[in-house]
Amino acid sequence: MILITGGTGYIGSHTVVKLLEQSEDVIILDNLSNSKKDVLNNIKTITGRHPEFYQADIRDNSAVDKVFEENTIDCVIHFAGLKAVGESVRKPLKYFNNNVAGAINLLMAMEKYNCRKIIFSSSATVYGIAETMPLDENSPLGVTNPYGRTKLIIEDMLRDLYTSDNRVSIVLLRYFNPLGAHKSGLIGENPKGIPNNLMPYICKVAKGELPYLNVFGNDYDTLDGTGVRDYIHVEDLAAGHVKAYGKIKSNRGLYIYNLGTGTGYSVLQVIDAFEKANNVKINYRIAPRRTGDVAIVYADTQKSESELGFKAEYSIDDMCRDSWNFYRNV
Ligand SMILES: NC(=O)c1ccc[n+]([C@@H]2O[C@H](COP(=O)([O-])OP(=O)(O)OC[C@H]3O[C@@H](n4cnc5c(N)ncnc54)[C@H](O)[C@@H]3O)[C@@H](O)[C@H]2O)c1
Repeated sequence: MILITGGTGYIGSHTVVKLLEQSEDVIILDNLSNSKKDVLNNIKTITGRHPEFYQADIRDNSAVDKVFEENTIDCVIHFAGLKAVGESVRKPLKYFNNNVAGAINLLMAMEKYNCRKIIFSSSATVYGIAETMPLDENSPLGVTNPYGRTKLIIEDMLRDLYTSDNRVSIVLLRYFNPLGAHKSGLIGENPKGIPNNLMPYICKVAKGELPYLNVFGNDYDTLDGTGVRDYIHVEDLAAGHVKAYGKIKSNRGLYIYNLGTGTGYSVLQVIDAFEKANNVKINYRIAPRRTGDVAIVYADTQKSESELGFKAEYSIDDMCRDSWNFYRNV
């Protein structure tokens, strides 16, 4: 049995679908702070299976213990966390409390109930402001905001845990920029409030919910001056988790993998791909650069390809089409 924390969220729900389709048994634990219970029905519609669900907070000791007491959990995939970089700068303690204290509580429950496998949702943000591209798993680590610090602290805790007890198996997955949605259009990314990420913002502009997109900086040293990022389809990302689970099911160790495509697209290229894939117009304005943003970020995917057998399959056009296919109907 696999416990999926944050399993009603964006990446978690797609991973739950993939695991159910592989006949794995999963339980979701989520406090619904950034997702809705309806997701469970949509997972059922897609897979024909209704995952067991606990509405609970990872910081709630007794609620987390109850999940472990009532089920034999062999592995945890830990998605639950807050992820808005800007908010983390304004409210760092909220992020340390939710993400770091939450992870400690979860890891203590795992120890108590002899659950020794964990796959953790880390992020390319742990590479800080990198000087050379592409980023491989040995690139120097750094922090540019409190959100990123929570990811690095949790990675460090897991490294220390592994040093203390090598019966534990850990996969740190460093995601690049997830886009897209399940092809059914039933699950996808629908953040509450003003979105932080590019694609939900583009979708809101396409739907007329926001007047225009701010493109932060057009004077970077890139092909068209706008920032370049490595975008990966959420379906590919979900498939990466299934591979990671396969890895620690039969091997003991601490593994670190980038999940990206290895190719970068500029903001203007994404806008153009979205307009072409969906036949809609996206109004945008050039705004000043944001502090902390860098020109180009993309992954070196060699290690995940050779060790994990992971290779992203979807194109930027697929990501744009599937994002809109989901968002136009919410
Ligand atoms: N989306 C991205 O761009 C991105 C990139 C890199 C890493 N990540 C990481 O991947 C993970 C999943 O991201 P996502 O995009 O699916 O986000 P999401 O907000 O859609 O999903 C996170 C889920 O966790 C739940 N949650 C949050 N705090 C909780 C708590 N204390 N107890 C129980 N549930 C809680 C939320 O309700 C939500 O359903 C996060 O840890 C995020 O930091 C995301």
